[in-house]
Amino acid sequence: MLIKRSPNGIEIPFPSEITPQHIFESRRNFIRQIALGSIAGGALLEMAGRQALAQNSGQKLAGKPNPAYVVMDRPSAYKDATTYNNFYEFGTDKADPAKYAGSLKPRPWSIVIEGEVKKPVMLDLDSLIKLAPLEERIYRLRCVEGWSMVIPWIGYSLSALIKKVEPTGNAKFIEFVTLADPKQMPGLRSPVLDWPYVEGLRIDEANHPLALLTFGMYGEVLPHQNGAPVRIVLPWKYGFKSAKSIVKIRFVREQPKTAWSRAAPQEYGFYSNVNPAVDHPRWSQASERRIGEDGFFTRKRKTLMFNGYNEVASLYAEMDLGKFF
Ligand code: MTE
Repeated sequence: MLIKRSPNGIEIPFPSEITPQHIFESRRNFIRQIALGSIAGGALLEMAGRQALAQNSGQKLAGKPNPAYVVMDRPSAYKDATTYNNFYEFGTDKADPAKYAGSLKPRPWSIVIEGEVKKPVMLDLDSLIKLAPLEERIYRLRCVEGWSMVIPWIGYSLSALIKKVEPTGNAKFIEFVTLADPKQMPGLRSPVLDWPYVEGLRIDEANHPLALLTFGMYGEVLPHQNGAPVRIVLPWKYGFKSAKSIVKIRFVREQPKTAWSRAAPQEYGFYSNVNPAVDHPRWSQASERRIGEDGFFTRKRKTLMFNGYNEVASLYAEMDLGKFF
């Protein structure tokens, strides 16, 4: 993505965080080390703080596998999916979110749904999760930068939520507003984007069953770096459309001004459907590197129209996708 760095780079004050997979192991070691008397004073306090920060990650979350939404490709390794991330609120390097997103507090969390709806509402996380049965779906995710992964997500179709709030006839688009709290997100100090990170969809896109309101992955609640506690996943669009850590969903009349299209409109369009025939102004989109298949002789994969999700094609039947990229 286009990156504007501040003259001094990004200052990140937080200590490294523990990745979810290691939490159990590290807790056990922590207790063992206390028992052995090998941790003392400040170190003990610092570790206790880190344990507290990591508490929300790693919790199990079950979703009923939905065979209608499974790709044949092998899912990416959990480690790759949780250590190679884009979440600029925690820094612009791929490793930054895993290192620094421990400061995100995914509970308590609430989400406001407002605008052109008959039933605006503020929901806490548990009420939101219980709104519809959770499913596990294995989706391809193609980043605009030219890499891809395959991830087992847990959530339900966004359309279930849309139905509950009863959009008015004026609701033509949906805007997703994500958390922008400098106390939790060190990356906000850098003017990479005009915060908060905002994304949007046309209402018929948002109602497509593929659009997944997502609470978990790999049988666990979303790790902080993957957009805890709630994000959207839109597998037929470039990854940046899949906004993380959502706090507000607004139903609006006009096409929302999204963070990336404001930063570089000539490079990142509102639609951003995966399209191998429409190159990014600075690179080709014809092929992709699957993370985890990085051997020297490994061939790149051909990128598929709509990332292979042809069922969305009818949403764009009348459109010139070169113009509306
Ligand atoms: N959401 C927010 N709030 N901030 C971000 O920087 N990055 C986007 C998207 N959602 C981003 C975001 C980009 S560029 C990608 S590719 C995906 O998240 C990556 O999701 P993943 O880290 O779970 O693979």
